[in-house]
Amino acid sequence: MKFFIDTADLTEIRDLAATGMVDGVTTNPTLVAKAGRDFIEALKEICALVPGPVSAEVTALDTAGMLREAEKLRAVAKNIAIKVPMTWDGLKACRTLANDGVMVNVTLCFSANQALLAAKAGAAFVSPFVGRLDDISQEGMELIADIRDIFDNYPALETEILVASVRHPAHVLEAARIGADVCTIPPNVLRQLIRHPLTDAGIAAFLADWEKSGQKI
Ligand code: E4P
Repeated sequence: MKFFIDTADLTEIRDLAATGMVDGVTTNPTLVAKAGRDFIEALKEICALVPGPVSAEVTALDTAGMLREAEKLRAVAKNIAIKVPMTWDGLKACRTLANDGVMVNVTLCFSANQALLAAKAGAAFVSPFVGRLDDISQEGMELIADIRDIFDNYPALETEILVASVRHPAHVLEAARIGADVCTIPPNVLRQLIRHPLTDAGIAAFLADWEKSGQKI
């Protein structure tokens, strides 16, 4: 499963990219506003740091407007994926961009039928939001399992399932169990993945024994 990092914060991206774990980046208008940087400038720097797909979201609601914005965003770098909302206008823009060889990420997906529409529109990625479904007492990960089952019925569909709105390490684990293609992970959750008290205790015990041995490497 590929790991994308879900942030527009350059410091976080630089730090985590150095671990070799970051296969791509996802941003959205909220994350860009939070980062407090000029969108295009920030995108340029992100694309230089991470060679994998970097999702940049349009804000227009009509197809023509989305395509105009997409034109500017895709000029930033070759690894930009244009993020469009799950609307008919978004799907029309998706088809046009996909026909032009552009990677499209259809976002705000909350049902398996919506995911099927994104795939039929030629999306490179569809982003089902698991955390926001959990927030309204639905099982977000059940949606991922449903989409996986459906896409597996049609091997010609090339759209990758990009698990979004990830809130904790259990979401990442379950996404991998189900066989999602990508999981976009907030920096704090990615850092949590490595933590285990037995790892810390093991390192402390080994170092204490090593010190007693009086040896050096
Ligand atoms: C990423 O592509 C999504 O925009 C993001 O994961 C949404 O996360 P949130 O539901 O925590 O805002």
